[in-house]
Amino acid sequence: MIATVSRHAHFNAAHRLHVEAWSDAQNKAFFGACNNPLYHGHNYELIVALTGPIDPISGYVYDMKVLGDQIKEHVESKLDHKNLNLEVPEFAQRNPTAEHIAAVIHGWLRPHISPELKIKVTLYETPRNFVEFND
Ligand code: NI
Repeated sequence: MIATVSRHAHFNAAHRLHVEAWSDAQNKAFFGACNNPLYHGHNYELIVALTGPIDPISGYVYDMKVLGDQIKEHVESKLDHKNLNLEVPEFAQRNPTAEHIAAVIHGWLRPHISPELKIKVTLYETPRNFVEFND
């Protein structure tokens, strides 16, 4: 029997979306408020979903307390209350879009969770806009 278990977390962070090769006018037109040269914040909502077999003994797919601790250690500690462009090396050369942040979060968690479990990262940048990144 296969099931999916999910853990909800959140973090606050600042960013700026900008493409060096584009003019300031192009950047502003494309990224709008997210291009603000002085940065701006988002309240990110994160859902990490693990899909895999239900252990016949415990009845769990995964221990949610462990998952919560792993998200704290490997994700929240690196992103919460940070300027993503300036303080997170993964975004020094890469635009901190929700797409890229979700992919980076997936990459941080993947080595710590058994390969038999599929990981799906869902990241809300605003209540209406979210991105999904899967294995
Ligand atoms: Ni933004």
